[in-house]
Amino acid sequence: MRKQINVVAAIIHDGEGRVFATQRGYGEWKDYWEFPGGKIEPGECAEEALRREIWEELETRIVIERLEATVEYDYPKFHLTMRCYLCRIESGSLTLKEHEAARWLSMRELESVGWLPADWGLVKTLKDTMNKEERYRLLTKQIRALTDGETDAVAVMANVCAAIHGAMGFFWTGFYRVKEGALLLGPFQGPVACTHIGFGCGVCGTAWERRETMVVPDVEQFPGHIACSSQSRSEIVVPVFSREGEVVAVLDIDSKERSTFDDIDRRYLEEICRMVKL
Ligand code: SME
Repeated sequence: MRKQINVVAAIIHDGEGRVFATQRGYGEWKDYWEFPGGKIEPGECAEEALRREIWEELETRIVIERLEATVEYDYPKFHLTMRCYLCRIESGSLTLKEHEAARWLSMRELESVGWLPADWGLVKTLKDTMNKEERYRLLTKQIRALTDGETDAVAVMANVCAAIHGAMGFFWTGFYRVKEGALLLGPFQGPVACTHIGFGCGVCGTAWERRETMVVPDVEQFPGHIACSSQSRSEIVVPVFSREGEVVAVLDIDSKERSTFDDIDRRYLEEICRMVKL
């Protein structure tokens, strides 16, 4: 009968998609990044053990958010069950008492870290821990870097809509540009869309005419909505202004669910559109 060992690990995240990983600096696993934690002592429940371990190892108190994964390892002499909990810091300074090194790993770095079992879906998990506002904050930083110093309109629009679409998971994200008195389809992500939209027509043409952001919780209730896809249920359209204050384009985003967009989307997307200099 193989011995059963039960351990716990803390996936401490910072709400911005980074997790705290530690390195032991000794033994077989010394160069591997891992999550802090340890053995469950007799009479302890898993969560108690985790709180104790993190206090002993890092002088930090944690808030346990949920059990994220249970990983089973089969070794020749024992079977190890590791329960991994998603946690946040409650208080404490992450002082290294038992580790050689520690650092916050970003989502991209995590994907390349040695031992993390891929089937944890951890990267997706971390994205899920970010609320809309946090995602937009990161996205805005990324877009500032992408657009800074770039003068080609197509390059800017292409990267901006790809960044938004990837970070937020919308159904359709793209630009329509004002050209010869109408809106003409520009760079976008998602299914094929209508090519021309007239001034004052649909949600896009209305945002252009009124020179303001349109938030449409239910496209079926918007008179004159132009259905490029029958799957679209709600929409936000933000005008892009030139330095002279003319509407030169609109950013159009569609969702497959009703009531996707609110004031948070409006605020951040307006900020993003101010970075787009066409
Ligand atoms: N629904 C938009 C047309 C563009 S597509 O959604 C991509 C509108 O009513 O203006």
